[in-house]
Amino acid sequence: MTQIHLGHLFHIGGGPILGDAAAALVSVPDGALVVDDGGRIVFCGPRSALPDDDGTAAVHDHRPGFLLPGFVDTHIHFPQTYAGDSYGGGQLLEWLEQCIFPSEARFADPEFAAQAAVEFCDRRIAAGTTAAMVFGSAFPHAQDALFGETRRRGLRLVSGRGIQTVGPASASPLLTSEADAIRLTREEIDRWHAADTGNVDTALLHVAIVPRFSLSVTVETLKALGELYDSVRHRGVYVHSHLNENNRAGTGEVDSTKQLYQVNTYLDTYDGRFLPGSAVGGKSLLGRRTILAHSVHCQDVELARMAETGTSIAHCPVSQQFLGSGTMPWKSTVASGVNIAAGTDFGGGDEWLIPRVLSDAFKVHISEAGDDGVSMHPGEMLFLGTLAGARALDMEDRFGNFDVGKEADFVVIDASRVPALNAALTHGVRSDDPGRAAEQTLFALLMGIREPAISEVYVQGRRVGPG
Ligand code: GUN
Ligand code: ZN
Repeated sequence: MTQIHLGHLFHIGGGPILGDAAAALVSVPDGALVVDDGGRIVFCGPRSALPDDDGTAAVHDHRPGFLLPGFVDTHIHFPQTYAGDSYGGGQLLEWLEQCIFPSEARFADPEFAAQAAVEFCDRRIAAGTTAAMVFGSAFPHAQDALFGETRRRGLRLVSGRGIQTVGPASASPLLTSEADAIRLTREEIDRWHAADTGNVDTALLHVAIVPRFSLSVTVETLKALGELYDSVRHRGVYVHSHLNENNRAGTGEVDSTKQLYQVNTYLDTYDGRFLPGSAVGGKSLLGRRTILAHSVHCQDVELARMAETGTSIAHCPVSQQFLGSGTMPWKSTVASGVNIAAGTDFGGGDEWLIPRVLSDAFKVHISEAGDDGVSMHPGEMLFLGTLAGARALDMEDRFGNFDVGKEADFVVIDASRVPALNAALTHGVRSDDPGRAAEQTLFALLMGIREPAISEVYVQGRRVGPG
């Protein structure tokens, strides 16, 4: 049956780059979103212009609520479901060793992992995260639980088991041999990639190859993963990892990686150039279906290579503040042309909600020194959390905005459930200029949304809900 959803619509129309997102912002205060039987958008516009129907459509009147495209989280950790706000870790490498590896090791227990999969999906739905690139558990049974529960709940998921072949003692439950790393990853692809529909172009479930980061693997692993990726790239398989997150001099992740591999850039290790002097040792893991989280401390040549290959950045400012990772230079990263999307990085970040990431992005980038400070436009913020995420997942043709023909992924915002948000929307000063007023309202929404305001969540036009 056709569904008509009424409310104030906001989305980024068309397929702009970030620099054009402000101009592409669409606001329809008394709007209607019409979704057909197949879960596709057939109309998005003013209620007054609704096409005639035969009276059989179901009308969902969300007014005075808002409809936004579903949020896309391009970097979040399933085995850190219970590890947010871990105390006593210090910066990245100490935090991993002392807090995170022990937390992730608990997923060795299948019952524990299954319970976490339910919790993880609950948290995603509460946060309105309709699509996500999820850094997976090392344990295949935990990944089975994640994919199974996600399918049951009707969410979109790209995920893969976190691959580690070397690490400190606390990581030992998470390590496998080189051969097992490849075998288990291949098995996960065969078991879960497009398992729901059998067709990668219509599936909600997809698999990624996920080396934790270069310090968790060896040249042999990277070479074998490059060969594996080369053999499955055409099937629409993804790659996910971390890049240039912590640059503490000498002992941080960036220096440690460059010293270990003797490479010119960290990115080279993912680009097949993992031998000393950045000599080519294997096949590249970069491409349109590759997302590298953080990328805070990139050299220009790395950004250029990511842009050239269509590799995206998952920008995670909440986590970068929690772990003292610094601020990704906004202007120069945007200017490189690389696609930037938003990621919570939960449990490095302590928020599940993409609007909280957008809020921190606004704050950290307006605070960059001197001329580098930027006041992000609310249209750019919405773009980062929706359409840019769909682009990072190489599924922009399927979701990410309300263009006619797309699959209807959206959230309903009922501001009355968050008093502070409601007050800001009701009493905040608004410009006489309708365009400016729309921007002010969207900004207040994105800064003020908290989980309880997300009253309904839809994927492909179907409502997803609690257990
Ligand atoms: N680098 C390698 N592993 C991790 C992780 O679990 N979280 C973050 N933020 N960075 C990492
Ligand atoms: Zn991460």
